[in-house]
Amino acid sequence: MREPTAARPYGDGASSFAAAGEEQGVTCLVEAFYRHMDALPVAQTIRSMHEADLQLSRAKLTAFLCAWLGGPNRYAELFGPISIPAAHQHLAIDEAERDAWLACMTAAVHEQPWAEIFKHYFLRAIAVPANRVRLASVARRAASER
Ligand code: HEM
Repeated sequence: MREPTAARPYGDGASSFAAAGEEQGVTCLVEAFYRHMDALPVAQTIRSMHEADLQLSRAKLTAFLCAWLGGPNRYAELFGPISIPAAHQHLAIDEAERDAWLACMTAAVHEQPWAEIFKHYFLRAIAVPANRVRLASVARRAASER
């Protein structure tokens, strides 16, 4: 597993994408993520927001995370432009749903053959868009109540 160097810390260029094992590593992560979403009792509510068949969800999250980690923009190539908060606005996501999503991601990350320091970095970083998703959902619901 490649470690960051002073010249290329995580988040710089494709260093995070490399640390995650590139496309194959991201595919393994997302496979584990949705396996935990299927199995964890705390994730039942968010699992029921998804289609029964998770194949497209897997493909989309894998494609998105490749770009998010600084790799090739597979999501744009395959599905077009995306704003993550806007893509979730129609869903009811509060703290419990955000935390359930992050619990699935945490369980998945801990299964990966990644450097411990990169696992820690990844989980801190992914919590940022997860919270933005919650805020967008809260704002949309508040606006629709006005
Ligand atoms: C905060 C908790 C989150 C929940 C509960 C959640 C739930 C969902 C659900 C239910 C869908 C399917 C939507 C539909 O079919 O209409 C979805 C799609 C998606 N999610 Fe999330 N999500 C969360 C956070 C995130 C984060 C943080 C990311 C990326 C860093 C992400 C990436 C995606 C992508 C790429 C899609 C596909 C969007 C599309 O192409 O329409 N999600 N999410």
